Amino acid sequence: MRTVYVNGEFLPEDQARISIFDRGFLFADGVYEVTSVLGGKLVDFPGHAARLTRSLDALDMRSPVPEEDLLAIHRDLIARNGIEDGLVYLQVTRGAADRDFLYPPDDTPPTLVLFTQAKPGLADNPLARTGMSVITIPDRRWGRRDIKTVQLLYPSMGKMMARAEGADDAWMVEDGHVTEGTSNNAYIVKDGTIVTRQLGEEILHGITRRAVLGFAREAQMRVEERPFTVEEARAADEAFITSASSFVTPVVRIDGTAVGDGTPGPVAARLREIYMEESRKAAI
Ligand code: PDD
Repeated sequence: MRTVYVNGEFLPEDQARISIFDRGFLFADGVYEVTSVLGGKLVDFPGHAARLTRSLDALDMRSPVPEEDLLAIHRDLIARNGIEDGLVYLQVTRGAADRDFLYPPDDTPPTLVLFTQAKPGLADNPLARTGMSVITIPDRRWGRRDIKTVQLLYPSMGKMMARAEGADDAWMVEDGHVTEGTSNNAYIVKDGTIVTRQLGEEILHGITRRAVLGFAREAQMRVEERPFTVEEARAADEAFITSASSFVTPVVRIDGTAVGDGTPGPVAARLREIYMEESRKAAI
């Protein structure tokens, strides 16, 4: 049985409790982070901690513990659960209060929950070799997708729609342009140029995205941060996604149409190689 963390305590998962009045449960009034673990170490923890602070600030939510304590809790959980390769999930909510749309008083203690997920073989997912298929769906999420809130119902629906069509995931489309994947950032490659939507309120500012674009630029690859259409994506030479749990994973079919020759391309493969190597080196 897993050991999980709830509000200052490490407990067996079946003994961990939060209130039915928790605003995360009643209003999705909470934010989260998912940090990958490779070889027992956290990948880009400072990036995830910085984005957590940004999400909390955007919602006027209190930070439950200082960043150094967060790191200690992450490490403690990894050790207690013997995680070699996997994920650490963290969620902060505005805490428990009688149901009221208005935020509760400032001194209401936030809820902090963390748990691990063991994912043996996380770094060599077969989809990295075969590539994945995506469908496109309208982006029906709220307008502040840059805040990493726990309102994940539409992304869940999107993944179910993908599964119903025999695809691996969905890319969301707004005003004719791809925003991002249900739980990842979306990219295409055309004539050697990597294209991905620019940062803004329309997409999550992926921690993996930032690292991968940095490595691409260091490797003298051309990067354009701008919206791209579904038609452009279908006509691209390559496509891929990035996220903490998928790293860099090629996309080889969009709405049933092969991207390029329908097999993973060299740019995605190279970026994955660099990303895996550098993130293992820098993991803490
Ligand atoms: N998802 N876009 C969305 C909508 C996401 O949910 C995620 C992450 C990303 C990629 O961000 P990052 O590189 O920081 O993981 C982009 C996580 C993995 C999840 O919900 O499980």
